[in-house]
Amino acid sequence: MKQKAVFIKTFGCQMNEHDSEKIHRILGDHNYKLTENIDNADLVLLNTCSIREKAEHKVYSSLGRLRRLKDKNPKLIIGVGGCVAQQEGERLLHRVPCLDIVFGTHNIHKLPEFIHDVEQTGSRILETSLYDSVPSLGVCPNPREKEIKSYVTIMQGCDNYCSYCIVPYVRGREISRPSREILEEVRRLSEKGVKEVTLLGQNVNSYGKGIAEDMTFPRLLHSINEIDGIERIRFTTSHPKDLSEELISCFGQLDKLCEHIHLPVQSGSNSVLKAMNRRYAAEEYIAKVERLRKACPKISITSDIIVGFPGETEKDFEDTLELMGVVKFDSLFSFKYSDRVETKASTLPQKVDDEVKSKRLTALQTYQKLFTLAKNRELEGKEEEILVEGTSKTNPARLTGRTRSNKVVNFEGSSDLTGCIVSVRIKRAFLNSLEGETNTTYCG
Ligand code: SAH
Ligand code: SF4
Ligand code: F3S
Repeated sequence: MKQKAVFIKTFGCQMNEHDSEKIHRILGDHNYKLTENIDNADLVLLNTCSIREKAEHKVYSSLGRLRRLKDKNPKLIIGVGGCVAQQEGERLLHRVPCLDIVFGTHNIHKLPEFIHDVEQTGSRILETSLYDSVPSLGVCPNPREKEIKSYVTIMQGCDNYCSYCIVPYVRGREISRPSREILEEVRRLSEKGVKEVTLLGQNVNSYGKGIAEDMTFPRLLHSINEIDGIERIRFTTSHPKDLSEELISCFGQLDKLCEHIHLPVQSGSNSVLKAMNRRYAAEEYIAKVERLRKACPKISITSDIIVGFPGETEKDFEDTLELMGVVKFDSLFSFKYSDRVETKASTLPQKVDDEVKSKRLTALQTYQKLFTLAKNRELEGKEEEILVEGTSKTNPARLTGRTRSNKVVNFEGSSDLTGCIVSVRIKRAFLNSLEGETNTTYCG
């Protein structure tokens, strides 16, 4: 039977990127191969994100372009999955007549069945059920040829209900995956040559809650640290309220655990944090950062901040700037607050004007640049351990990789070094990357 081609476009976070890899794996078992050229596709899938209004708009504009593609090729099947599909469901099907399949975040394992039904009957499919036990949680994508890094899902969903956030509604309840399955997957990845794993969950610190075995996230990290062939372990994301002493001490103890933590603070104002339902105070966050730095002085700390949460005053915003000045993040993702349906924050009065939000966002980003650059400059002249990921996209004569602290380094070297850990001396620091040099010519 002739192989068919699927084009997958992914929006949003690492969970979605990894879900797309799972979709690729599932469809690969059903005679589909991935294509980079949308014009050749028999099937186009959008894996969508609804975290902010802007993310959702991107999906609708992509769908507008797809309509023209379907006019040219009426046999083309178009599906939308991910968080917008989960949230919008029938509305999406109604609003976009060229759509064949709308599948929610818990239903990727059913895609082959959906595609078969569309082919056989021409009917339109809608499936957005959420389950207590998600079958796709255990789908392990095949690492691509010579893949060096891989994501591993350790849990799905979120129970935290931060008042601004749509994730609990579109990803369902928090469910941890049995540790045996996770360890098996990491072993299998290591046998295929993967050197670095990133453990994925909305709140990895509460891993183990509600599963039959007696397992915590720090214990899981200890077990993964024992797996031969794996050289680096990362994880994302950590909720500050659940960052335990046991997890903090893992940074000093586990040789494979990279010196980087993404620890979203969201705001530096205690009243805003309370209204966000984050369940920690700015002082507690700062104290945790201090303990992390004591346990692991080299640790790089990155974060997320929302500006313009309903009711955020100029003073609240200044508290956020003050926290940034105390913590000095290595880098920061910052966003303007965006109303999301169903969330508590969307019902709050005292919405902040968009103009004010923009002004605060610019001020915050300008301020953060000082810290990012200063942190990067601290590495000038230092030897850093880099896992080489391949040749640079902009210059094939150069290699690219990351420090253990997750900073991108570009340097000259042979592409034979891809997949190796090499020592690189940092020559120059920029805002978004570092430039280095190495004497290493072969994998040690
Ligand atoms: N589970 C992770 C990340 C969730 S989404 C965590 O808890 O940290 C990534 C980031 O998007 C959040 O940290 C937050 O800063 C931002 N975000 C979430 N909802 C938002 C909204 N309604 N408006 C603006 N930013 C939002
Ligand atoms: Fe959203 Fe909060 Fe859950 Fe993160 S912890 S996914 S911000 S509800
Ligand atoms: Fe977006 Fe869904 Fe991730 S809303 S950030 S793709 S969990």
